[in-house]
Amino acid sequence: MNLTPMAEILNKANKENYAVGGFNINNLEFLQGIIEAAEESRAPLILQTSEGAMRYIGKDYVVGMVEAATKNASIPVALHLDHGSGFEKAMECIRLGYSSVMIDASHDPFEENIAQSAKVVEAAHSVGVSVEAELGQLGGTEDDVTVDEADATYTRPDEAVEFVARTGVDALAIAIGTAHGVYSGEPELDFERLEEINEKTDIPLVLHGASGVSDDDVRRAVQNGINKVNVNTDFQQAFTDRVKKIFAEDPEIYDPRKYCGPGREAIKERVKEKIEILGSKNKA
Ligand code: G3H
Ligand code: ZN
Repeated sequence: MNLTPMAEILNKANKENYAVGGFNINNLEFLQGIIEAAEESRAPLILQTSEGAMRYIGKDYVVGMVEAATKNASIPVALHLDHGSGFEKAMECIRLGYSSVMIDASHDPFEENIAQSAKVVEAAHSVGVSVEAELGQLGGTEDDVTVDEADATYTRPDEAVEFVARTGVDALAIAIGTAHGVYSGEPELDFERLEEINEKTDIPLVLHGASGVSDDDVRRAVQNGINKVNVNTDFQQAFTDRVKKIFAEDPEIYDPRKYCGPGREAIKERVKEKIEILGSKNKA
């Protein structure tokens, strides 16, 4: 596959103070909408699959589709495992040809999280694959990962420094008040905490659960050191809202191309808006 290691994409973003979309794909239409938007925006891109999406699409189909989508790509594209549940899953994705993996041991105690993340880093780096890990825990649900709001914990800046030094990860996902999925109220981000983590570490930081966060807050997060912004729910809603509208207008519709095509177009429009907000337009 014509892929770029995520570290290369994010280190440039880190130097030039913008963020790259970590955009989840759930089916062919997502992949097409996202890659077309990134190409037309001349924006670097991180395509990512959750383990749930890999099961839904089928891992060989993921590889085949991404291979087709990136064959003639003129922008840097990484293929990344999102919220990898352990060493074996990360190794499976590396063998499949992913250029980046996330190991999410954020639910484990600090020392265990370090041990698991460092183990993945050692193996991944030996073959040029990048690694993202998470410290602190987001509330909400992202496919297989569900965390009760009461169990959500913010990232501690001093722990982040130690975690980065002892694991050697390329990017660190932090918890500063965002949550996965649909928010019940207005999310409140802890920008002071973000500033402190950014001052104390020089690693690209990752914001998960960005769907539903206001455009101004996303921009402010990027100004304060976020270099990767993960979005999934927002594009799912864009797709589904467009399909619902078409069904409302024409309940007799039966050809899936007549509603999946416009759904794909809705994703593309939304991705282009996000790229503008992240500042990655024309950064390819
Ligand atoms: O890992 C993926 C993201 O954190 C997506 O979160 O669905 O709330 O946008 P979201
Ligand atoms: Zn996430």
